Amino acid sequence: MSRYIILFGPPGAGKGTQTKIISEQLSLPGVSTGEIFRSQMEQRTPLGQQARSYLEDGELVPDDVTIGMVRETLAQEAYSAGVILDGFPRTLDQAEALGEIAESYDADLRVVFIKVPERELVERLSGRILCRKCGRVYHKKFNPPDDPQACEKGGTCELYQRDDDRVEIVTNRIRVYNEQTMPLLAYFRDRGDLSVVDGTQEIECVTADLLAVLEGVPG
Ligand code: AP5
Repeated sequence: MSRYIILFGPPGAGKGTQTKIISEQLSLPGVSTGEIFRSQMEQRTPLGQQARSYLEDGELVPDDVTIGMVRETLAQEAYSAGVILDGFPRTLDQAEALGEIAESYDADLRVVFIKVPERELVERLSGRILCRKCGRVYHKKFNPPDDPQACEKGGTCELYQRDDDRVEIVTNRIRVYNEQTMPLLAYFRDRGDLSVVDGTQEIECVTADLLAVLEGVPG
């Protein structure tokens, strides 16, 4: 049986940060729908052109486009043992589609909510910096790069800030999350798939709690 792990939470909760860490520890690949959209936008593909205005405004890309993209991704051999999903599902239709996809691959579905209060999210996102080459996520204050000259892909990290991390767009992303995504918590809780970890702790402590929940390792 394969494993589908969903890291669920508001923008800035630490889903991407934790996906990169636990992906190595659990030997499961991560899939970030936001990263796929941004890469398609950079490559100017038709999917990227379709998604662009939604990402720029901090709105959700329509369900049919997003579900189709995830369905195609999870059909690849690379995900046959399972996946860590970062940023999907975000609507009830997406959650139901994922339930069907998981069933068709006989996958066990686990959801972990990384809980962070709204007041911390804007500071996290406005200070976020990423490396364009290796994809690592840092924070100017909370998680600065030790050595930006040592990029995982060789040479120096190319650090940048995301366009949608401007305060006005972050505010809209949080509103969209509260209206369209937060209601999924009750859906997962009712299905009995949901665990919760405290995302306000140090990054290493959040990782330990995640692994404890997912692997039964004492945190
Ligand atoms: P996406 O890229 O998924 O953005 P998001 O959900 O808004 O999440 P973020 O990437 O902003 O936050 P994160 O939780 O990964 O936090 P991170 O680890 O980076 O989506 C972007 C857009 O794509 C959406 O707006 C939408 O348009 C579209 N989209 C994507 N998926 C979609 C879907 N399913 N349906 C429709 N549209 C979709 O951490 C944030 C910062 O905090 C970093 O600087 C980090 O260093 C720091 N940090 C992390 N952990 C801690 C900690 N424990 N303590 C202190 N700082 C920390």
